[in-house]
Amino acid sequence: MSSLSETSLFDARAFRNALGSFPTGVAIITTTGADGRPVGLTCNSFSSVSLDPPLVSWGLRLASKSLDAFRQTGAFAINILAEDQKELSARFASGAVADKFEGVGWHPGHRGLPVIEGSVASFECDKFAEHEAGDHVLFLGHVARFEHGRQEPSLVFYKGAYMMLTQSLRELAASGRMESGHLDQARRLVNCMLLRLACENGTEEDFDAIERNISEIEGYDDASSRAEASVEFFRLVTRAAHNDVLVLVADTLTTLLRHVLQSDATLRSRPELVPVRRKILTHMRERDADAAEAEMSHYFDRLRSEVRALEAQA
Ligand SMILES: Cc1cc2nc3c(=O)[nH]c(=O)nc-3n(C[C@H](O)[C@H](O)[C@H](O)COP(=O)(O)O)c2cc1C
Repeated sequence: MSSLSETSLFDARAFRNALGSFPTGVAIITTTGADGRPVGLTCNSFSSVSLDPPLVSWGLRLASKSLDAFRQTGAFAINILAEDQKELSARFASGAVADKFEGVGWHPGHRGLPVIEGSVASFECDKFAEHEAGDHVLFLGHVARFEHGRQEPSLVFYKGAYMMLTQSLRELAASGRMESGHLDQARRLVNCMLLRLACENGTEEDFDAIERNISEIEGYDDASSRAEASVEFFRLVTRAAHNDVLVLVADTLTTLLRHVLQSDATLRSRPELVPVRRKILTHMRERDADAAEAEMSHYFDRLRSEVRALEAQA
């Protein structure tokens, strides 16, 4: 039976987004073409399959220009990229680059496979099996040789983007160069920006979801449930902004804030802020960005003065 009717019922974009909630590493899969030239592409479908025997898998789009090379070859290498190899990832994911290997450091490994210099790890495999699955071919490899040379953090792909922002901010925090005041300021600015966008782009469904969240916050007696629901308030405002890039920035700042401030004064629940949230929502429904932003600033002012008071006590 044709799967067309099934696929038309299926929201492909929502499916991709849901898949993107699973963070992965990034690898370049390489082999040698029939003409002896190295072939490679960026891949995040790599997975371990078996320890004994050592098997791994990855999937290749049927539309890939490299399909013939990988179907014809008896071997391939998986090069796991480090955080500082983002440019290589982009290079090997581009259909526009004529020679992906030009200027790229590599050495021949098992059966002459191109092993990319500077990778965190590489797995040189003999092809174990190959199965066509939907619009991809699933390749299984039997690991003949592996290297795990560099101890650098791996490049991480999450929600359709590299997690460079989180990593850069984490490094800043780890090196003690991140002041809680700066983080707070960044969060305030990003949230005000998102709020303005939410006034412009938010739908009635978005606003209804925010209203349900506020009622939920008001319904909780215990501080920790309230705090969790308050984080959700910002997430819903962010969603109402309908800007995926800013969603990522805002999520990162919230995650980081929780990570950096373990005692997390700014994420604790404050019943006195409940009316402020309702006022923000009213302005959003009125599409009055200035008034909404003024309330949001007020919200952050109160948080800031509380944090200052706590810091003074400490
Ligand atoms: C992070 C990331 C992960 C990717 N993962 C895969 C994958 O698992 N399988 C695949 O076929 N393409 C994947 N791609 C897309 C290919 O890298 C891209 O289509 C590339 O142009 C293929 O090159 P080719 O057509 O020369 O083979 C990924 C791209 C990126 C940026």
